[in-house]
Amino acid sequence: MNAFAPTCQTCHSTWYTSFAAFEDNVINDPVVITKGDPDGSLLILYLEENGPGSVQMPPSFFDPQGDSFMDMSDKGETALTVQEIRDWISGL
Ligand code: HEC
Repeated sequence: MNAFAPTCQTCHSTWYTSFAAFEDNVINDPVVITKGDPDGSLLILYLEENGPGSVQMPPSFFDPQGDSFMDMSDKGETALTVQEIRDWISGL
């Protein structure tokens, strides 16, 4: 949850009103996360720039460099790497 906050909170503020809200809107929303299957999870597809219509999260206009979360992860700018998030989803 905290790993995403700096990059996602601005737009996805409803996720961050409480941990329960994050659970409802992210962890337990089958649209966002397929438990145990990172490759089938929209969250990972978005983070890796493979979302529907090549959409990435955060959207490219959001970061001054146009970096996606994966770009930031590669540069060590995120609290968790994309790989760590994949591992987390695999274990859900
Ligand atoms: C600049 C605003 C903005 C930022 C920053 C942003 N998003 Fe989004 N996000 C959107 C918008 C707008 C949509 C709806 C777009 C759509 O459905 O095509 C969306 C949709 C989503 C969805 C699909 C939700 C659903 O129920 O369909 C996910 C998952 C998501 N974002 C994850 C993230 C994550 C993770 C981050 C941070 C790494 C992030 N977003 C950062 C604007 C943003």
